[in-house]
Amino acid sequence: MRAARCTEYGPPGGLTVAELDDLRPGPGEVLVRVHAAAVNFPDVLIVANRYQVPAPPPFTPGSEFAGVVAALGAGVTGPPVGSPVAGAVLTGAFAEQVVVPVASLRQVPDGLDMVHAAAFHVTYATAYHSLVTVGRGTAGEWAAVLGAAGGVGSAAVDVATRLGMRVVAAASSEERLTVARKLGAAAGVDYVREDLKLRLRELTSGEGAHLVIDPVGGRHAEAALRGLRRGGRFVTVGYADGEIPRIPLNLVLLK
Ligand SMILES: NC(=O)c1ccc[n+]([C@@H]2O[C@H](COP(=O)([O-])OP(=O)(O)OC[C@H]3O[C@@H](n4cnc5c(N)ncnc54)[C@H](OP(=O)(O)O)[C@@H]3O)[C@@H](O)[C@H]2O)c1
Repeated sequence: MRAARCTEYGPPGGLTVAELDDLRPGPGEVLVRVHAAAVNFPDVLIVANRYQVPAPPPFTPGSEFAGVVAALGAGVTGPPVGSPVAGAVLTGAFAEQVVVPVASLRQVPDGLDMVHAAAFHVTYATAYHSLVTVGRGTAGEWAAVLGAAGGVGSAAVDVATRLGMRVVAAASSEERLTVARKLGAAAGVDYVREDLKLRLRELTSGEGAHLVIDPVGGRHAEAALRGLRRGGRFVTVGYADGEIPRIPLNLVLLK
């Protein structure tokens, strides 16, 4: 089978494509013939050795895929060979075949194509977890989503809107804000050219947002925290900016 390979840590451009032996599922595992794989921000961190869980080279990167079941390992009774499945792994998805524990697979629902099935789990599960489990967002509340046209951000705009929240999308260009508006954002803030704290307050009748979802970090995090209302919730999801923000703790006390 063909697979992308990381033979030494670095930027994604250093990956190569190699011909490898076909995979075989072990006990409790399933062999999946990969039809589509999604590229997520953590894939870039893993090949650069900047992720919290290291993967020693050489390895096949790729953490999210959809495909069809090709073979079952010992002790596995389903899903049946030929059925459409999707799953997430730390590495291994950027290949024609991947082997995963059966428990990590889920069925692809009727009507969902392989490309969308492959790209759903990491961004949408992260967005849902951030908004609902951690952020306790409810209908009618104002949610500010940073990096609103990115993977996690755009999923958060979509999920928050479907939960009945009013979304302020924050992003670095009008083009990106248009993407977020199409997903349901009620308002947009260009946080490069506008003051995020002031705009969040203006858009929420002076009160500030109930909830901030922040997959970006950097300088925008503190501005968003300042644009949060008292008793609001701030969910830090990731640091795509590259800088992990250092927040004055009195701001947290004030909120
Ligand atoms: N906690 C978790 O479970 C979890 C799960 C998935 C992802 N994450 C993390 O969440 C973060 C975002 O992931 P993602 O999939 O949404 O990434 P993405 O699709 O690349 O989007 C990141 C957004 O961040 C903004 N950004 C600002 N500075 C950037 C820079 N220097 N490089 C790239 N983007 C920059 C961009 O928006 P603007 O240009 O509009 O500012 C971009 O749209 C990553 O740090 C990722 O590791 C965490």
